[in-house]
Amino acid sequence: MERREPPGRLGRVLIAGQEVATRVADLGLVIRRDYAGRFPLFVGVLKGAFVFAADLFRAAALPSNLDFMGVSSYGGSARPSGIVRLTADLSVSIEGRDVIIVEDIIDTGRTIAYLRRNLATRHPRSLAFCVLLDKVARREVEVAVDYVGFAIPDEFVVGYGLDHDGYYRNLRDVAVLDPSAPA
Ligand code: PRP
Repeated sequence: MERREPPGRLGRVLIAGQEVATRVADLGLVIRRDYAGRFPLFVGVLKGAFVFAADLFRAAALPSNLDFMGVSSYGGSARPSGIVRLTADLSVSIEGRDVIIVEDIIDTGRTIAYLRRNLATRHPRSLAFCVLLDKVARREVEVAVDYVGFAIPDEFVVGYGLDHDGYYRNLRDVAVLDPSAPA
């Protein structure tokens, strides 16, 4: 049977799981207050946001729905083309809905720019973006984000949904990875 080692080598913890949990709880309370009396649709962007979306959805504790969509960037982490495409669409209409897009990380900003363009054509009542990690220094496209968990330095990070080659998504901490080091 093929044996696959997780690639790279884990380095220091950037944000401990407890700190993430506290911040997610805070974001949930802010969203709960901002959306009081409304019934928003949370949309997690696969795959990386599935952990954050599940926790934020529960932390907000609103009468609300959760759906997912998948997007992918051509060119992997280097993303030379900057082209973003839809790999899995929503299962419900967002027309007239208050929509909160939940992302694990904003890097160049291209994914969020794409999602804003794509979803605006579907006539939601409102469209907000909630991002756990903001790699500010990497921005190529200016995009407005409504809720941010942490601004982080330009380092390769994994955990709490973020991966390298599909691994490390199940770590509770957000940790730095040396992607080229042997495991
Ligand atoms: C990550 C992340 C965002 C995107 C952000 O997804 O989840 O969707 O990159 O980068 P950008 O701001 O430069 O567009 P990734 O392509 O790693 O896929 P995954 O979520 O399936 O791991």
